[in-house]
Amino acid sequence: MKPRVIAVDGPAGAGKSTVSRRLARALGWSYVDTGAMYRVVGLIAHEQGADFADADALVAICDALELVFEDDGEGVRTIANGRDVSRDIRSAEAGQHASKVSVVAELRQRLVALQRRMGEAGPTVMEGRDIGTVVFPDAPLKVFLRASVEERARRRCADLEARGDSVDRQRIEREIAERDQRDSTRATSPLRPADDALIVDTTDEGIDQVVARILALADERQVP
Ligand code: DC
Repeated sequence: MKPRVIAVDGPAGAGKSTVSRRLARALGWSYVDTGAMYRVVGLIAHEQGADFADADALVAICDALELVFEDDGEGVRTIANGRDVSRDIRSAEAGQHASKVSVVAELRQRLVALQRRMGEAGPTVMEGRDIGTVVFPDAPLKVFLRASVEERARRRCADLEARGDSVDRQRIEREIAERDQRDSTRATSPLRPADDALIVDTTDEGIDQVVARILALADERQVP
C-alpha cells in the first residue's frame, strides 16, 4: 500500500514550510519538518564542540536524542532532550551547521528511519530535501519547490529580521548559494527533484495559488 504522505522538497527559502503547513492544515494531516531534525543535531554537535564530520559523534547525539514536535496552536515548537530549541535552530548559523552534518551518511540513515516511522504513523505532509527521492519514494504526491536565489535570500532576510537578528543581505545570498551547492553535490541523497515530482517555481507565484494547485492535484489523484 502507498504511504499517505505528500512529499515537499526543495532548497532553503523556496517556501516549503509555508506551503507544507498550509497543506497539512487544509487536509487535517500531520506536518513533519525534517530540516528541523538536522538542525537539532547540528545545534547539539556545535554546543558539544563535536566535529561536524565525525559520524560516531553525530550518531551518538542522534541515539541519545529525545525529540518532540509540539503544536502550541500558534506554531510547532521543537523540544530536544526536554529543552525548547525552536528559536536556536532557526539562526543562519544553525542552518549552516545543519547543512554540514546532513552530509554524513550514517546520520542520514538514522534520521531517515525515524522519518519513515513518523510518516507511517498517519497521513503526513513531510518537507525536506530527499522525501520524494529517498524517504518515501512511493509517496502518491511529490512536490519540488524552487525560487530564484535573490527571492529566497529576500525571504530568509525577512524571517531573520522578524526574529530581531541583524542581517547582511549579500552574506545571506552567499550562504544560500553555498548551502545549495553542498546540499546538491553531497554523495548521499543529494537535493534533486524526484522524476515524478510536480515542479513549482514560487518566485512569482503566490502561496495561495501554489497551495490551491497542489490541493487540486491531490484531489485529482485521490490522495486524501
Ligand atoms: O530545510 P532546512 O533549511 O531547515 O534544512 C536545513 C539543512 O538540513 C539543509 O541545508 C539540508 C539538511 N536537510 C537534509 O539534508 N535533508 C532533509 N530532508 C532536510 C534537511
